[in-house]
Amino acid sequence: MKAIELRRKYIEFFKKYNHKEIPSASLIPENDPTVLFTTAGMHPLVPFLLGTSHPLGKRLTNYQKCLRTDDIDEVGDAGHLTFFEMMGNWSLGDYFKDESIKMSYEFLTKELGIDIRKISVTVFEGDNDAPRDETSAKIWESLGIPKERIYYFNKKANWWGPAGQTGPCGPDTEIFFDTGKPKCSENCDPSCDCGKYLEIWNNVFMEYNKTEDGNYEPLKQKNVDTGLGLERATMVLQGKETVFDTELFAPIIQKCKDLARENYNIQSGRIIADHTRASLMLLLDGVRPSNVEQGYILRRLIRRVTRHLRKMNINLEDIGIIANTTIDCSKEMYPDLEKNRDELIKLLIQEKDKFIITLENGEKEFNKYLKHADSENTKVISGDKVFKLYDTFGFPPEMTEELAQEQGYTIDMDTFNKLYKEHQEKSREGATQKFKGGIADHSEKTTAYHTATHLLHKALQIVLGEHATQCGSNITEERLRFDFKHPQKVTPEELQRVEDIVNEQIKRDLVVTCEEMSLAEAKANGATGLFENKYGDFVKVYTIGDFSKEICGGPHLDRTGDMGTFKIKKEEASSAGVRRIKALLVKEE
Ligand code: SER
Repeated sequence: MKAIELRRKYIEFFKKYNHKEIPSASLIPENDPTVLFTTAGMHPLVPFLLGTSHPLGKRLTNYQKCLRTDDIDEVGDAGHLTFFEMMGNWSLGDYFKDESIKMSYEFLTKELGIDIRKISVTVFEGDNDAPRDETSAKIWESLGIPKERIYYFNKKANWWGPAGQTGPCGPDTEIFFDTGKPKCSENCDPSCDCGKYLEIWNNVFMEYNKTEDGNYEPLKQKNVDTGLGLERATMVLQGKETVFDTELFAPIIQKCKDLARENYNIQSGRIIADHTRASLMLLLDGVRPSNVEQGYILRRLIRRVTRHLRKMNINLEDIGIIANTTIDCSKEMYPDLEKNRDELIKLLIQEKDKFIITLENGEKEFNKYLKHADSENTKVISGDKVFKLYDTFGFPPEMTEELAQEQGYTIDMDTFNKLYKEHQEKSREGATQKFKGGIADHSEKTTAYHTATHLLHKALQIVLGEHATQCGSNITEERLRFDFKHPQKVTPEELQRVEDIVNEQIKRDLVVTCEEMSLAEAKANGATGLFENKYGDFVKVYTIGDFSKEICGGPHLDRTGDMGTFKIKKEEASSAGVRRIKALLVKEE
């Protein structure tokens, strides 16, 4: 069974049990600035797990694109990936352990035909925060899993969430597939990472909310949150030894082999396959390489691909061939990759080109350090050298570490971190100076542009559709700039309608009000916007008459009437699937 069929089967199965399908959200979480990426299917559902009612009801299912960087060093083994897809089903205060476990069991054994003798499960052993989960263990037993394949583990292994610092979480029961490999030792069990047991599904019983002071309080409702890893399940069903042997990656690996010939190395091939796919998916969701946040992770991924190509003596220009192959074998699952193929590949090549110039020089510099270390009779590369490679040659410290490890050396990360911190503090002081100089303060003009941005946002959604949501905004004294999701050029007629709608609202002289409320309430009230505070915190909601309601830090005008006439100056592509508008407020004297 191919991955795409498995995905379809999953959704159909849960629809049969009255779940409603919801779309996959962006890799960039829209409501939680405390995490960089969507790391699980539950992420976009946090307000609903906390108690806000979901418009589609209490039973939901979907497949969700996810990206996790905590496993980045494990990429290269059989089952770890940075970008992966998670199929999930949720009960928002509806069914709980019994039904959830039974549905998972039925799907695995009846729909997918997995032999129950190959399944082991784990449950929570209990602690001061929550009791031992004998309920789940009994349900598993009733389904035919013998006691010796039901393991009790502690919070570290059998508790999931919250995804950020606070939020919904709870004990889980995890389902493992026995790959048939021999036990690595007498104590080998599902908590062992030798590769015998592969976790494929996690059913979390989210009945707690972790608060800022670290306590677990009962939630208003008992939820279920499950996640079944698509790539791993595909591998199991196809009887493959690694995810890289499935149709999702095999052509990329083959291409690396063809290009590297006798220089091929398994680890590098897998890293290239995983990271290229992850980079393309990030680019598709609007991330661009930079030195901060999501952009920095993307940069690291692309730089690592580049270095591993070089390690296998593959011409770096061939990154384009690898990316094309990646899109070829991913496009059925992610049609947008095909639609944006040329642009995505162009961006990837641009970043590689930027790095190429420094890669060669950096490697030379690094080799000098190795010689120096040898002459000093040490196997440690000092922190100031790691910092120099970072600062002057653009080598992420993790990459220097990897280079060092390959040669049997380590790096002094502590000293690097110290130097890095000092460097950051210096830049921050610079930024504070600028702030003092008045650059960041809010004049009447910028305030008017803030309010106009809300009108524009709403008008775009009216004219283009609800998908036209904000991706970014930048305001100066002179103009506003607004980025939003839209797959194609906005036509002149559409732009005219947007402009007219905004001007109409200005003429209506609507009153702007501000209220503080919890994020859940804001969402329930239909507020849109980028969510600047994390879950549980109070947010400001600005309402403009009967026209718009948005979560925003402000500041805003009191009324719309006096802001001038709104004029769109330019509409252009910002990145794949994202458009950019520049607009002015003109006052006729
Ligand atoms: N949130 C849980 C996980 O990521 C179940 O989907 O494992």
